Amino acid sequence: MRLDGKTCLITGAAGGIGMAMVAAFLAEGARVIATDRDLAAIETAAAALPAGMPGRLYPHALDVTDDAMISALNQRLEAAGLGPDVLVNNAAAIRIGKLLDTAPQDLDLVYSVNMRGLLQVTRGFLPGMIARGGGNVLNMASLAGVHAMHERFAYSASKAAIVMMTRAIAIDYVDDRIRSNCICPARVETPFVTGYLQRYYPDEVEERFQALAAYQPLGRMIRPDEVAAMAVFLASDESAMISGQSFVIDGGVTAGDQPGARIGARG
Ligand SMILES: NC(=O)c1ccc[n+]([C@@H]2O[C@H](COP(=O)([O-])OP(=O)(O)OC[C@H]3O[C@@H](n4cnc5c(N)ncnc54)[C@H](O)[C@@H]3O)[C@@H](O)[C@H]2O)c1
Repeated sequence: MRLDGKTCLITGAAGGIGMAMVAAFLAEGARVIATDRDLAAIETAAAALPAGMPGRLYPHALDVTDDAMISALNQRLEAAGLGPDVLVNNAAAIRIGKLLDTAPQDLDLVYSVNMRGLLQVTRGFLPGMIARGGGNVLNMASLAGVHAMHERFAYSASKAAIVMMTRAIAIDYVDDRIRSNCICPARVETPFVTGYLQRYYPDEVEERFQALAAYQPLGRMIRPDEVAAMAVFLASDESAMISGQSFVIDGGVTAGDQPGARIGARG
């Protein structure tokens, strides 16, 4: 299997994309340390996994904004011989709004989870990877990090930062045999999306959901397992010569002209 012998730690693993990665990584033979601030949600989802898989799953509570928790988990995993080869920084917070809708505390929240969290979790686990001779840091960015999307002022800024943090890790630790890449999905059907629709547009959830699906020229939301498939490739040795890159999964959004822009063959 493609991830045989690898130990992979995923943050935000109880969520839509996180749990899809947990299932896909386990299916490919990895040992998976599934972490989230909501441990009960991981344990509930794990109960539905096919027989045999849970034996390689190690659920742990981890809030990526809590430095003491990161340090304690690192020590515990190292002592158990479960230091990760692959670290997936997936946990995130979102705030919707333009600049004038964004209060400093909104920026602080997004910053503390998406950027500072990535920094601290990676600072926790990277030295162990280096000591073991190499590793792989995979970050969940967003299409919003490479392509301006309406009303994502704070979130886009944090995801653009993650794109560049990915490249910085890739070049700064190349001699330590660390590679780093990120994934930039457009609209993925997860509780992240339904949650913010209910929070920001409680009277228009269905209408907004259909608009998000139509946003992708291929005509639907992206499924979490489609993001997980890319994560498996980037976590595996099949991608051993790929580092510092951002992989867009957007149903054709950034390919070029959208269908409404068609002006005829002679136009
Ligand atoms: N769903 C989308 O449309 C979409 C698109 C592009 C990128 N992404 C990115 O994919 C990643 C996963 O998103 P998702 O859609 O699965 O979200 P989700 O809301 O379903 O899951 C996010 C998970 O992160 C956890 N989390 C939040 N704050 C945390 C913290 N401080 N410490 C630890 N865990 C924390 C939550 O408990 C939750 O389980 C995020 O980085 C998100 O920005 C999502």
